[in-house]
Amino acid sequence: MNILVTGGAGFIGSHTLIELYKAGHTAVVVDNLSNSNPESLNRVERISGVKTPFYKVDIRDRKGLDNVLDQYTFDACIHFAGLKSVGESVSKPTEYYDNNINGTLVLLQALEAHGCRNLIFSSSATVYGNPAFIPITEECPKGVCTNPYGWTKSMLEQILTDMQKANPMWNIVLLRYFNPIGAHPSGLIGENPNGIPNNLMPYVTQVAIGRRPELGVFGNDYDTPDGTGVRDYIHVCDLASGHVAALKAIQAKCGLGLYNLGTGQGYSVLDIVKAFERVNGVPVPYSIKPRRAGDIATCYSDPSKAFRELGWKAQFGIDEMCRDSWNWQKNNPNGFE
Ligand code: NAD
Ligand code: UD1
Repeated sequence: MNILVTGGAGFIGSHTLIELYKAGHTAVVVDNLSNSNPESLNRVERISGVKTPFYKVDIRDRKGLDNVLDQYTFDACIHFAGLKSVGESVSKPTEYYDNNINGTLVLLQALEAHGCRNLIFSSSATVYGNPAFIPITEECPKGVCTNPYGWTKSMLEQILTDMQKANPMWNIVLLRYFNPIGAHPSGLIGENPNGIPNNLMPYVTQVAIGRRPELGVFGNDYDTPDGTGVRDYIHVCDLASGHVAALKAIQAKCGLGLYNLGTGQGYSVLDIVKAFERVNGVPVPYSIKPRRAGDIATCYSDPSKAFRELGWKAQFGIDEMCRDSWNWQKNNPNGFE
């Protein structure tokens, strides 16, 4: 299939390109580079041998999208483009709602006008809020989000659901990601956060390389085995292959599909620190800090629906996730610069 990949220069998008090429698909990327470096696409070419056609376009720019859509015929769009910083979304809510929601609406209208009615959307486990039960199946009701970023995902799921219902010609797969970490085993592409990392693994790797003195562990009094927060970390290459699997649902004319992409295994913050130290042989000093506002104790998936219906299952374990995160950080201390 020929795939339009929005946000393809970013962390998950660049890894997904590799999996798409491995599976014999072709792709074109549009990205406004607001949170990425086009060098990621050169690296994708080094890994895969495939040069990705790239257009620097903001998805809110209808003319820019039409220009790309006029030049190619796409079988589907994988839509990664969006702003994703939780903290920033609290201070700049209108920017987040405009970029993520307005951007997606413009994209949908452009796709519709060009007869491309197949879409895979990057959603998040954040839509479950404080989950009603664990492990979280897709039957778990959506919850109250704690920040505008989360609401953009929750609202976009609703918008896409309503649209698919009104226009059954559309096939839409909502993928709810759990916590993507790791990097391509080559060490050539990986996550490149701006400023102080928000998320656990980039913080851990920056402590390990000496860029930050220690990790703050946000709370050790949760109702979890060691008191620290438990999450479902998933290797970004597994997450990427989940998108290739979702294309099969699109090809089978799924209508509306909804899948968790996780491993089904929960690890605490201290489990991650210990695994990282063991696998990589580097110390990660830490101290216990107060809880972070908006955090929950435990969040992990039941990923069995994706296995049953898409034949997809995560392959990598926590050791590979720690190894590959460190390999990327070590080889690229300043990201793509
Ligand atoms: P990323 O920031 O690395 O990639 C997103 C890409 O979209 C970037 O290259 C950015 O420049 C681009 N972009 C942003 N706004 C755009 C716009 N208006 N027009 C064109 N391009 C635009 O993030 P990622 O980690 O690769 O995440 C990809 C998607 O997955 C996002 O939608 C994110 O919200 C979602 N997601 C990520 C995580 C995670 O932990 N990384 C978890 C759940 C969901
Ligand atoms: C966060 C976001 C979520 C988003 C996801 C992926 C919040 C409240 N939630 O999820 O909306 O979809 O990232 O981008 O921000 N931790 C530390 N020290 C740190 C960083 C994290 O102890 O420096 C702990 C956290 O308390 C948590 C775990 O590590 O228990 C994972 O945190 P993080 O990587 O930020 O992911 P989430 O909080 O699950």
